[in-house]
Amino acid sequence: MNTALMTHKFKNKLRSLRTRFIHNPNLAAHKGSEFEVNKWNTSEFVVSTLLPITGHHPFPVTEQMLMASAVCYLKPSHIFDWGTNIGVSARLFYETAKHFGIDSKIHSIDLPMEIEHEEHPKDHRGKLVRGLSNVTLHEGDGAETSVEIAKTSKVKNPLFLLDGDHSYETVTRELDYINKNIEKPNFIIHDTFFQSSESNYNIGPHQAVAEFLEKYPNQYTKIECNLGLPGMTLLLKK
Ligand SMILES: C[S@@+](CC[C@H](N)C(=O)[O-])C[C@H]1O[C@@H](n2cnc3c(N)ncnc32)[C@H](O)[C@@H]1O
Repeated sequence: MNTALMTHKFKNKLRSLRTRFIHNPNLAAHKGSEFEVNKWNTSEFVVSTLLPITGHHPFPVTEQMLMASAVCYLKPSHIFDWGTNIGVSARLFYETAKHFGIDSKIHSIDLPMEIEHEEHPKDHRGKLVRGLSNVTLHEGDGAETSVEIAKTSKVKNPLFLLDGDHSYETVTRELDYINKNIEKPNFIIHDTFFQSSESNYNIGPHQAVAEFLEKYPNQYTKIECNLGLPGMTLLLKK
């Protein structure tokens, strides 16, 4: 390796160590009020630490950037995640909180074994997060179980990942239920990409989010990840 390349690599390493340990690793340095994270920092984390564990399915890189950024920005005391399935999203939240030193309790919920659902993971439920501290697995309906837990915990800036059955009716019900029962909820909704009807895509989650925002105007800031399927939307309570 030539000297110029070695110096360049050394400087890059130094810069990343400095942002990680000396500067606030999560946010921009100014005091602006809009959502923002340090994307160089989160990119390095997603590429070097997260992707080797989570892979790029079911969450492509842009969706993982959004999920990790939401945790960095909100520093949620609690993250409610459903459905668990094998636990990719729960593991992603766990790794992000650990890397950036954020104290988040992760509650991941999937339907009970006896309920039939085409995507139910059966014995593989939560296999990527079993035994990890700060991750608790539950059986039940995602929205109802989360609200039950939230009501008995000291919850600050809670984050809810809606990744259950991706239908218009379910996402509508879940958004409404959480919004009515939790004081300051933030949501990540998976599978919200919009495409015109010729595509025959399921645009139910996209429609549910659009109607929710019409019903509660000026209450949420929307940040979307819209390059292609599956798509993801972050709703931040103002
Ligand atoms: C697309 S998978 C979720 C993928 C998962 N988040 C991951 O990262 O591995 C959908 C899961 O949601 C579960 N599910 C469906 N409806 C649910 C509900 N109402 N409450 C909790 N889980 C639900 C299914 O059993 C299935 O395991």
